[in-house]
Amino acid sequence: MKLENQLLKKIAETYGTPTYVYNLDLIKSKYNYFKAAFPWPDLRICYAMKANYNTAILNTMKSLGAFIDAVSPGDLSLALKCGFKPSQIIYTANNMKDAEVDVVMKTGVLMNIGSLSRLEKYAKKYPGTRVCIRFNPDVVDGEHDKIKTGGDLTKFGILLEDTDQVIRITKEHNLKVIGLHEHTGSGLIKSDSILAAMKNMMSIAKKTNFPDLEFMDFGGGFKIPYSPDEQPIDYKTMGHDIVSLFSNFCDAYGKKLGLYFEPGKFLTAQAGHLLVEVNTIKNNRQRAICGTDSGFPQLIRPMFYDAYHHIDNLSNPDGEKIRYDICGNICETGDLFARDRLVNKIREGDLLSINDAGAYCYSMGGFYNLRPMPAEVVVEKTKIRLSRKRLTPDELIALILKESHDMLPVL
Ligand SMILES: Cc1ncc(COP(=O)(O)O)c(C=O)c1O
Repeated sequence: MKLENQLLKKIAETYGTPTYVYNLDLIKSKYNYFKAAFPWPDLRICYAMKANYNTAILNTMKSLGAFIDAVSPGDLSLALKCGFKPSQIIYTANNMKDAEVDVVMKTGVLMNIGSLSRLEKYAKKYPGTRVCIRFNPDVVDGEHDKIKTGGDLTKFGILLEDTDQVIRITKEHNLKVIGLHEHTGSGLIKSDSILAAMKNMMSIAKKTNFPDLEFMDFGGGFKIPYSPDEQPIDYKTMGHDIVSLFSNFCDAYGKKLGLYFEPGKFLTAQAGHLLVEVNTIKNNRQRAICGTDSGFPQLIRPMFYDAYHHIDNLSNPDGEKIRYDICGNICETGDLFARDRLVNKIREGDLLSINDAGAYCYSMGGFYNLRPMPAEVVVEKTKIRLSRKRLTPDELIALILKESHDMLPVL
């Protein structure tokens, strides 16, 4: 299912670089693996579309029967335009404005609320409606401090000790709490953190005993092995433990609830490659510096989270291994894809693949230094197609000027 070097080279020849490539067949197999790992009658896999909002990927998710975790009015609008029904979407933004809540409520999408202040305002404006409540699971885990979402150092979710306030607000305004939600972090490292978070949430379910409760949502965070030294996690075993804990809980609770998850990274990360061309090799004393035609605004994870992305030299796969700093073309010292990385000897003109680039890469991108985002190409059953074109610099500037209220002088 891995995309062969020849195919990636052909894509770069056809569409140029920088270009993202997504392997839709791998996404399908990851989805099916995930589904099989959690055998539960009302299992919902709510794809965290923040990971990658490419429309071919969203369409693939729809065809597989996925639901959607949306985090902004933009996410919501795109999911609806891709044909997801409001009943298939859960809305989990944080620090929402009143106007944003109103936009979501007009669509009929279920709102997931993660602060007492927002819950109080929501309850006053929308009494008697269905709602989901996001708690902070008080379990700290994730592959980097910046993506741990549990514990009181983060802004997410209502603290467990504030449950009495939740009960008061929901009772006062007759809210129908149909879901309880938590998300511990992204790239959960400890094998038992999901179970620990689930247990905390189960105590909340027992304590609140909301009569309308239909589901519990335990978020995303399912890790993938980015580095070749990492072992993949056996989610079949983990799924078995999770399902049996949940099953025992539902028996004791007296209701078979829905079991929801919100994976992003697990479903799409490994399906993505960013293809870049090397244009400069510089020897700075002992250090070999490799310059490429992309940069951190197009793939920020290494700079933002010290994330590891494996890099292959597609043009010289059997060359001797040499250590390089692999950089982008942005005017910032931190603009690096990898520091001191062993890669097969790199020459100017070589094509590199930055792997596992299907989650939180394009979607975190921007136009810093006014360079257009890469093209996006998808591969499905060996068929290759352009999913989104790369703007030319002139097209990017035309887009910016279209939104600008300041007139340029007529030359
Ligand atoms: C609420 C919520 N759900 C799901 C996810 C998806 O996480 P991941 O891509 O690690 O599965 C995130 C991302 O951090 C999130 O904030």
